[in-house]
Amino acid sequence: MKILVIGTGAREHALVRSLAQDPAVTALHAAPGNPGIGQLATLHPLDILDGRAAAALAREVAADLVVIGPEAPLVAGVGDAVREAGIDVFGPSGAAAMLEGSKSFAKEVMEAAGVPTARAFTCTTREHIESALDEFGAPYVVKADGLAAGKGVVVTADRAEALAHGEACVSVPGSAVVIEEYLDGPEVSLFCICDGTTVVPLEPAQDFKRALDGDQGPNTGGMGAYSPLPWADPNLTAQVIASVAEPTIAEMAKRGTPFVGVLYCGLALTSQGMRVVEFNARFGDPETQVVLARLETPLAGVLQAAARGTLAALPPLTWSSDAAVTVVLASAGYPATSRSGDPITGIEDAEVDGAAVLHAGTALVDGTLVSNGGRVLSIVGTGTDLRDARVAAYRALDVIEMTGGQSRSDIAAKASRGATATSAIPVVPNPSVKDA
Ligand code: AMP
Ligand code: GLY
Repeated sequence: MKILVIGTGAREHALVRSLAQDPAVTALHAAPGNPGIGQLATLHPLDILDGRAAAALAREVAADLVVIGPEAPLVAGVGDAVREAGIDVFGPSGAAAMLEGSKSFAKEVMEAAGVPTARAFTCTTREHIESALDEFGAPYVVKADGLAAGKGVVVTADRAEALAHGEACVSVPGSAVVIEEYLDGPEVSLFCICDGTTVVPLEPAQDFKRALDGDQGPNTGGMGAYSPLPWADPNLTAQVIASVAEPTIAEMAKRGTPFVGVLYCGLALTSQGMRVVEFNARFGDPETQVVLARLETPLAGVLQAAARGTLAALPPLTWSSDAAVTVVLASAGYPATSRSGDPITGIEDAEVDGAAVLHAGTALVDGTLVSNGGRVLSIVGTGTDLRDARVAAYRALDVIEMTGGQSRSDIAAKASRGATATSAIPVVPNPSVKDA
């Protein structure tokens, strides 16, 4: 099978790494990729929002399957353009990707499908925003309706700040804002592989969204993750499939926009029960790095079965009993800004004893590997339990040098000590900021 992966992050490096280990894969291409991905796949330049160019590239490399990593091309309909060219695509149509592309649409689908989520109002005027804020009270949760590269969500105890964000969101004609009830409790990410009708769950993971230790500082695209979740209810996955993923997939099929790809269920385990915080239409970053590190079933066949609508015939997935922890190394200034051009050394020495270094914002300049973005590397450690996996990840991180590099020192720390869960979702005055 010849595969083209679209994207540039550590998530795509993790996908390419797993695909490279699959004996069914005979050729791997990536566009535009990054220097780490380039060690495993042939790289091609591409404007990832240009569906025609993506389809042309897929034809040129005779791809049997195109895997689209990030949300922006999915929402822009790049998957549709490639499918129209007669090539299998892992990733939803533009219409189905609206589950991520519009928070109000996701809420409407959840309501129709009876999926548990925060109560919410979709508002377009200041008056409605104010009445919605007062209906729920603090902490306030205010979400721009459309894709906002992660900058659209404000969770705050400050009503004036909540109102200001709400007004900013509706200032563009035709735009809306979703105001919703605050959800307490730890967050879990569950990726569900879907072929339009059948749902196959991957193992759950937990992401660390805040920049600093102890869940302090601004929100980021994600500073680390781990899997499995030893503290979680063993029935969690079954519960999410039955009450979230399957009803959502059935509702999307009923609407004539079947969902093919990853339905990323972002969940809060609240005192009232499990609730959906958000849907994404793609693999999460950095959770993918730990989930795929534990998947034993060759990946290409799973993605192809989803693309072809044959997931029901797939044998059950097999998982390593190992644990995996990933720690993100970010550049100076992240998440507010990011610094490029800092040389990175030590990667080869770091990749020992079950550690892997996945590239995100890196570039090769005159043969030297340098930082080139906010999140620069994802360092993945595996081990027989979370403690060993943490040790492996942090040992590898220690060996890597990059001026101004920042990382959290407490990824998976509580869970590896056997604590039941991590802290409740924090109330932050900052908007969440994902990667540039
Ligand atoms: P989203 O863009 O919807 O993923 O939201 C980004 C982050 O904001 C989530 O991962 C949560 O940490 C936080 N968040 C979103 N919705 C809520 C909510 N209803 N209650 C509390 N925190 C939330
Ligand atoms: N890890 C959060 C995300 O991928 O959106």
